[in-house]
Amino acid sequence: MGKLDGKVALITGAARGQGRAHALTMAGEGADIAALDICHNLSYPRYALATSDDLGETVRRVEALGRAALPVEADVRSAADMEAAVTQTIARFGHIDILVCNAGIADMALTWDITEEWWDIMLDVNVKGVWLAIKYTVPHMIARNKGGRILITSSVAGMRGEPGMAHYSASKWAVVGLGKSLAQELSPYSITVNTLHPTAVNTDIIKGMAQASNMKTEELVDFIHAGHALPVKLIEAEDVASAALWLASDDARYVTGHTLKVDAGRMLK
Ligand SMILES: NC(=O)c1ccc[n+]([C@@H]2O[C@H](COP(=O)([O-])OP(=O)(O)OC[C@H]3O[C@@H](n4cnc5c(N)ncnc54)[C@H](O)[C@@H]3O)[C@@H](O)[C@H]2O)c1
Repeated sequence: MGKLDGKVALITGAARGQGRAHALTMAGEGADIAALDICHNLSYPRYALATSDDLGETVRRVEALGRAALPVEADVRSAADMEAAVTQTIARFGHIDILVCNAGIADMALTWDITEEWWDIMLDVNVKGVWLAIKYTVPHMIARNKGGRILITSSVAGMRGEPGMAHYSASKWAVVGLGKSLAQELSPYSITVNTLHPTAVNTDIIKGMAQASNMKTEELVDFIHAGHALPVKLIEAEDVASAALWLASDDARYVTGHTLKVDAGRMLK
C-alpha cells in the first residue's frame, strides 16, 4: 500500500528538476499526477526553461510506475491558463488532493541593477503563479470536503537575505506570508498549507544562475557549500521530494503553516 493511494496531485514546474522528483515520488506512493509546466522560454530568466520533451519524459516515467499522468502546458502567471489547467485536471481525475506550487525561476543581479522587467517577471512567476494555482484549486478542495494538502516551494532565500538575489529572495519571503495566511483560512476544512525551504538543489536553476552571473557552476556551488553545516555541496531533488511526500501524506495531517527547511544546516550559520 502506498502513502498516497487514490490521491491526485497537481504539480507545477513538473517537467524537470524538483517538480519531476515530486511527480515520481508521489506516483511511487500511489498518486496520479497532473504535471504542469510552461514548456517554453521567457524573456527572463537568462537561462532556458523546460521543454515539451521534458514534460513528456516526466509523464513517461510516472506511467512507468503504473500511475496515470496528465501533461498540462500552462504558464502559472496566466489566470486563464491556470483556471483551464485546474478544469482539465478535474475533468480527467475528478478531484485534486495535493497541490504542489513548485514552478519558479531564479537569476542573479545586484539590487540596483535589476531592471523593472526582471523584477516583474520574477514576482509574477514566483508569487502570482503560486497564488493563481491556489486560487483555482482551493474551491474544488473545499467543495469536495475531504481535506487537502497545499505545498509551496519557497527556499532558504525565503528565510534569509541572499546578496545578488533580492528579487528572488523577496518572492520567496512573499509566499511564506501567502502560505501562513492561507493555512489559517483553510484549517476549518482540514486543508493544510506548508512551505518548503530547500538550500541549493542539483537542478538546472543552479547552472542557469551561474551562467547569469558569469560564474563557473563549480564556483557558485563552492560558495553555497561554504554555508552548509552538513558535508554536502548540493542536495538532490529527491531530498526535497521526500520532505514534500511527508507533508502530503496522512503522517503530517496536523502540520500546517509550517516552514520546513531541507537546508543541510544552512540556517544554523
Ligand atoms: N535548485 C535550487 O537550488 C533551489 C533552491 C531553493 C528553491 N528552489 C525552488 O524550487 C523550485 C523548483 O526549481 P528547480 O530547482 O527544480 O529548477 P528548474 O528550473 O529545473 O525547475 C523549475 C520548473 O518551473 C518551470 N517554470 C518556470 N516558469 C514557469 C511558468 N511561468 N509557468 C509554468 N512553469 C514554469 C520551468 O520550466 C521548470 O521546469 C523553484 O520554485 C525554485 O525557486 C530551487
